[in-house]
Amino acid sequence: MQAPRIDLFEWLLRNAPHATYNLAFSNIHGLTIQEYKTLTDFSFPDSFELGSNAQYGADELKKTLCSMYNCAASNLVTTTGATEANFLVFSSLLSKGDEFIIEQPGYQPMWLTPEMLGARRIPWPRTFERGFNVQIETLTHLITDKTKLIVLTNLHNPSGVLMNQKTLQEIAKIAADHGLYVLVDEIFLGGSFLPQPSSFGIPNVIVTSSATKIYGLGGLHSGWIIAPEEVARHCQRVKAHTTGAASYTSEIMTARILSAARVELIRRFQRRAKTNLEYLTKWMSHHTEFFEWVQPDGGIVCFPRYTMKISSVDLCKYLFETQKILINPGSFFNQDGFLRLSYGCDLPLLQSALDALETGLRNLRSNL
Ligand SMILES: Cc1ncc(COP(=O)(O)O)c(C=O)c1O
Repeated sequence: MQAPRIDLFEWLLRNAPHATYNLAFSNIHGLTIQEYKTLTDFSFPDSFELGSNAQYGADELKKTLCSMYNCAASNLVTTTGATEANFLVFSSLLSKGDEFIIEQPGYQPMWLTPEMLGARRIPWPRTFERGFNVQIETLTHLITDKTKLIVLTNLHNPSGVLMNQKTLQEIAKIAADHGLYVLVDEIFLGGSFLPQPSSFGIPNVIVTSSATKIYGLGGLHSGWIIAPEEVARHCQRVKAHTTGAASYTSEIMTARILSAARVELIRRFQRRAKTNLEYLTKWMSHHTEFFEWVQPDGGIVCFPRYTMKISSVDLCKYLFETQKILINPGSFFNQDGFLRLSYGCDLPLLQSALDALETGLRNLRSNL
């Protein structure tokens, strides 16, 4: 099996250590141990064995997730991040020659992984002109007898746009009429400014998520799948071929903080996201010569369209080389002419980064 390169990751990992302004990552700043201890009185007892393992997931995490999603333990599989969660779903539902319909622009691994498994990508556009919303009426035309899965993110990565429950239900209904599942990666949903419940519960919807983005727990890397029982069972079987068991220690720490302080963690996220978005929104309104955008509904990423005639990779390389600003090229999300810009850093850093961005764009324009 050939593993296709994920340009987005290579770009990030190569350049992040050398960036002065990192506007590229999609996770909120990590929780410190001090913050952790303020939010929960949990600490491991001296007798806790670091050799502990739970192939079917730590009971505490399963209990927490069952109450978060109003699901049964048989609906869930704990994983190492949403990356493994998505991998298990793709491996369980797709075989060589199958087709999957996926939103575009989108998050690169969500088509490269199934393509690696031999499945064929059928793009479903979410256009800028439509505010990055899907066009429901076009879905049926994309479905063939080879289609097995529809793949979405909510909030949408890269635009941060929220898909409402009614639209999701309509998509799931069309999918159900054709015997298909819908995978909704909800890793950013807790960061929506307008709270929306998970779409787990719609019978043919599979949800994946993790504690890495909104909750500031990236280093623990706990993730999960919430799925109809038959899918969860299959994913659990595939997990025996990937990690076998996720980190038990991480699962316990994640369970304790989510059950004690999930709401506070979401507030922590949204405080920063809303303050920074307010600043960015003003900045965008003063820089329409360079950008037009769809304002995100939450999260800390957005996907503005730039006005200059240059490829997004060249533009990002130029900004990185001349200003040490790290931003992601839209082409890594399969849409050139756009940038994925993250605004989740400290506000003073964001302000300096946007000043540097303006300088870079002005210099570039005078050289083009
Ligand atoms: C939509 C989406 N899913 C999954 C992931 C990866 O999640 P994790 O870090 O939990 O493996 C990302 C990371 O950016 C993402 O944007």
